[in-house]
Amino acid sequence: MSFETIIAETRGRVGLVTLNRPKALNALDSRVAAELTRALAAFDADPGIGAMVVTGSDKAFAAGADIKEMADKTFPAVVLDDFIAAWDGIPRLKKPLIAAVAGFALGGGCELAMMCDLIIAADTAKFGQPEIRLGVIPGIGGTQRLARAIGKAKAMEMVLTGRLMDAAEAERAGLVARVVPAAALVEEALKTAEAIAALSTPAVVAAKAAVNRAFETGLAEGICWERQAFYALFATADQKEGMAAFVEKRPPAFQNR
Ligand code: HXC
Repeated sequence: MSFETIIAETRGRVGLVTLNRPKALNALDSRVAAELTRALAAFDADPGIGAMVVTGSDKAFAAGADIKEMADKTFPAVVLDDFIAAWDGIPRLKKPLIAAVAGFALGGGCELAMMCDLIIAADTAKFGQPEIRLGVIPGIGGTQRLARAIGKAKAMEMVLTGRLMDAAEAERAGLVARVVPAAALVEEALKTAEAIAALSTPAVVAAKAAVNRAFETGLAEGICWERQAFYALFATADQKEGMAAFVEKRPPAFQNR
C-alpha cells in the first residue's frame, strides 16, 4: 500500500502505520484521516495480521487536527460534510490497535491515541486537549474518552484549560499502559503487538470487544456479553489447542480458527 501522509508496513503478523507529515507535526488533515483508516481497515481484514501499531515521530505523535484546514470552515459546511466521521472506522476495528506515542499528542492526536486499544508512551510524550484555546472543544471523542480514562477532575482540568500532561502523569492517571525510553518506543510497541498477534485471533478479537463493552453498557449487560463470548470461544479449534497445550506442557500452536 502506498500513501502520501502515512507509511504502512508489515512486521511479521503486525501492521505498523507511521504518521508522516513531519513539517506539520503530523497534523491530522482529511488525507491522513482517509489514508489511516484505509490502511488500518486493510490490516484488520488481512488474516496474516493479528495486531496493529500506529506511531508518529520523535517530536510529535500528532499535534492535532489540521488547524489550517479547519480555520475557514463554516457551521453549515462542517455539519453537511460531517468531516469528523472520517475517523469513525478506527473504533470499529476488530483487531487490537496500539498507539506508540512520543512527543506531542494534542487535540485530535490525543483523541486518536485514545481511540486505540492501549497507549504505550515514550518518556517524552505530552498529552493534551488544547482545543479550548482555539475557541472550540475536542471533537473526535476527547471529552468522553478522556473522562472515562482518567476521571472527571483531571479530564475537566485538561479540557477547560488546555494544560498538557507529561508521560509520568499520564501513566499515574491511567491514560497510558506503560512508559518506555523514547529510543525503545516503537520496538516495545511492536513487541507487545507481536505477543498479541501470536495468540488466537478469535480470542483476541473477543477480548477486545468484551473490554470495550465495559465502556458502552452497564455492568450486568457487559457481564452477560462477556459470558456469551467466553462460551462461544469453546467452538474454536484454538480453545482446544490452547488448553491441550497447557495440559501437555507444550507451547500452543494457534491456527486462528
Ligand atoms: C496545522 C500545525 C499544527 C496543527 C503544528 N502545526 N500543529 N499545523 N495544525 N494542529 C505546524 C505549525 O503551523 C508549523 O508549521 C509546524 O507545524 C511546526 O509547529 P511549531 O508551532 O512551529 O512548533 P513548536 O513551536 O515546537 O510547537 C509545537 C506545538 C504547537 C506546541 C505542538 O505546534 C501547537 O500548539 N500546535 C497546535 C496544537 C493544537 O492546538 N492542537 C489542537 C488542534 S484542534 P509552519 O509551516 O506554520 O511553520 C483539534 C480538534 C480535533 O485537534 C477535533 C476535530 C477534528
